[in-house]
Amino acid sequence: MSERGQLWHGRFEGGPSEALQALNDSLPFDQRMFREDIAGSRAHVQMLADVGLLEEAERDGILAALDTAEEEIAGGTFAFAESDEDIHTAVERRVTELEPAGAKMHTGRSRNDQVATDVRLWTLSAIDEVLDLVARLQGTLLAQAEAAGDAYLPGYTHLQQAQPVALAHHLLAHGWGLARDADRLRDARRRTDVSALGAGALAGSSLPLDPAKTAEYLGFGAVFDNSLDAVADRDFVAETLFALALLGVHLSRIGEELILWASTEFGFVELDDAFSTGSSMMPQKKNPDIAELARGKAGRLVGHLTGFLTTLKGLPLTYNKDMQEDKEPLFDAVDTVRLTLLALDGMISSATFRTDRMAGQADSPYAAATDLAEWLVARGMPFRQAHAVVGEQVRKALAGEGALHELVAAHPDLGTEAAALLAPGVSVSRRTTHGGGSPEAVAAQLERFRATLA
Ligand code: ARG
Repeated sequence: MSERGQLWHGRFEGGPSEALQALNDSLPFDQRMFREDIAGSRAHVQMLADVGLLEEAERDGILAALDTAEEEIAGGTFAFAESDEDIHTAVERRVTELEPAGAKMHTGRSRNDQVATDVRLWTLSAIDEVLDLVARLQGTLLAQAEAAGDAYLPGYTHLQQAQPVALAHHLLAHGWGLARDADRLRDARRRTDVSALGAGALAGSSLPLDPAKTAEYLGFGAVFDNSLDAVADRDFVAETLFALALLGVHLSRIGEELILWASTEFGFVELDDAFSTGSSMMPQKKNPDIAELARGKAGRLVGHLTGFLTTLKGLPLTYNKDMQEDKEPLFDAVDTVRLTLLALDGMISSATFRTDRMAGQADSPYAAATDLAEWLVARGMPFRQAHAVVGEQVRKALAGEGALHELVAAHPDLGTEAAALLAPGVSVSRRTTHGGGSPEAVAAQLERFRATLA
């Protein structure tokens, strides 16, 4: 019999085929959870001693062996064996080599409750790390918004110039999207923070295990209610993948705007050389690759979510090996989001906004058309009529019948007071309502955003 199949060798005559091993082994990717796996074993072993299933000396021997295994893996000296199917079997094998009582470590435990617990622990710290990076990007947007002062640019709908807005307003709009992402991650975190240890393979145990104790040792906020659900549930992975995918979609929208703004045609932003790339052929090029990758990476994040939901779909209770497919998308999604957040943060914090170019575009007299209509409304004209009056002046101006401000000044319902609204910088200052785009309204919004971040 080969070295393989040691875990279940009692039932088997022959060893596993190479094809099975190649498909089945998760060690290449799940060794990344070695710290979580060892933490889970420590808690389990403590609990086994607490309930009298291990002698104190056995417990201490196993704990010491777990320390050694952890140091070896962290230091790169751990000798993985051919028989190590996953991180759980590798650690258990090594602990048993170092300490004969290691053969008792898996008492009352299955890899099914073990792996669910490990992935939960890993996800909790991954979420915390992503939350820190999201807060950092929000802080950068806030700093740029504060630095923007009263600068303004055209706001867009349909990518057509609509109404001027403060640059700070525009930057904070992305900040609020990120605030919802952080909220979603915290929400997913709450449901991740549940221990599955003690569920056994699926049905609990005939031994006097204490799942609440292991949950407490591991610092979990809660313990599973149903052993079948505990080993079958990967909702927390799907939820985290969703929160990361939507975060990625938000980053892609920020990326797309930076790409547009960095173009010669817009010229709204100058990117720092350290966060731009050149062309191997065209000497004049400066490319916004980070922003493009922020846009592109969203595709794979959405793919991880849909792929994993498809994996889960139709799985009967309880654990099925399909669920081993949770780790690669989860790990990659976290890695992808981490890199994207860091790079985008650097790109935005080092960017220079060309507020002269922005104002030049925002001061187009047509951008104030809505202000003219609202000016008429304030003087008693029904909005539909006001819209038509102003629309007619715009049409005439576009047809070459005169400059808009002249047409407005000459109009009996409008006149010179209304024409003054078309002067540079006037329009943006007028939308002072709650959450609006004027610098005055933005000052209050900045306060709210700072409070959300704190
Ligand atoms: N490597 C497996 C996974 O990641 C561990 C659980 C295996 N359980 C089992 N009964 N084969 O899901």
